[in-house]
Amino acid sequence: MPTFRTSQPASAGDPRRPHVILVGLPGSGKTTIGTAVAAKLGRTFLDLDQEIERREGCSVSAIFGEKGEPYFRNLERTVTEELALFGNMILAPGGGWIVQPGVVALLRPPARLIYLKVRPEAALARLGADHVSRPLLARPDPGGELRRLLEARAEAYSSADFSVNTELYGIERVIEKVSTIVTSIGAA
Ligand code: S3P
Repeated sequence: MPTFRTSQPASAGDPRRPHVILVGLPGSGKTTIGTAVAAKLGRTFLDLDQEIERREGCSVSAIFGEKGEPYFRNLERTVTEELALFGNMILAPGGGWIVQPGVVALLRPPARLIYLKVRPEAALARLGADHVSRPLLARPDPGGELRRLLEARAEAYSSADFSVNTELYGIERVIEKVSTIVTSIGAA
């Protein structure tokens, strides 16, 4: 059986219950919100980028730089295939995970997707200097890169089962809203 380093190392990830997957641009808050929601609800959280970094022993930037984006996308797919053997986790894949052909179908159904909506300008402001740790944004015009990523991904993000506009509320309210959705999915 594959193993993951989740927020609750001993948790089993009950395969009979659906995963909840947070999707959205870099800077949409997938990791922050996912961590907080999982802690609040006593659920298991996994950040796919962190899992990939753990397995590879280096940062996502280094993977992109040394082995290239296709290699990273393969790792994302492999971790996703393994996650299909489990369930009941709150997952935060990187922002580009959703546009890999066939990757969503590895988990949904039964998984459900929540889109954390944010405008590129707001995402960039949230990321601050940290945008350089995203290889696709470590370029002269990160705001333009985010706009292009959103344009290319808007349709995929909109295919999520639920959507929360993260700019309409403070972070505590976003955590509450996402928690309510996650609870409703678990109860379904
Ligand atoms: C990517 C987003 C990053 C990371 C990689 C590629 C993307 O994750 O997976 O740099 O294609 O949007 P975050 O969305 O967590 O920043």
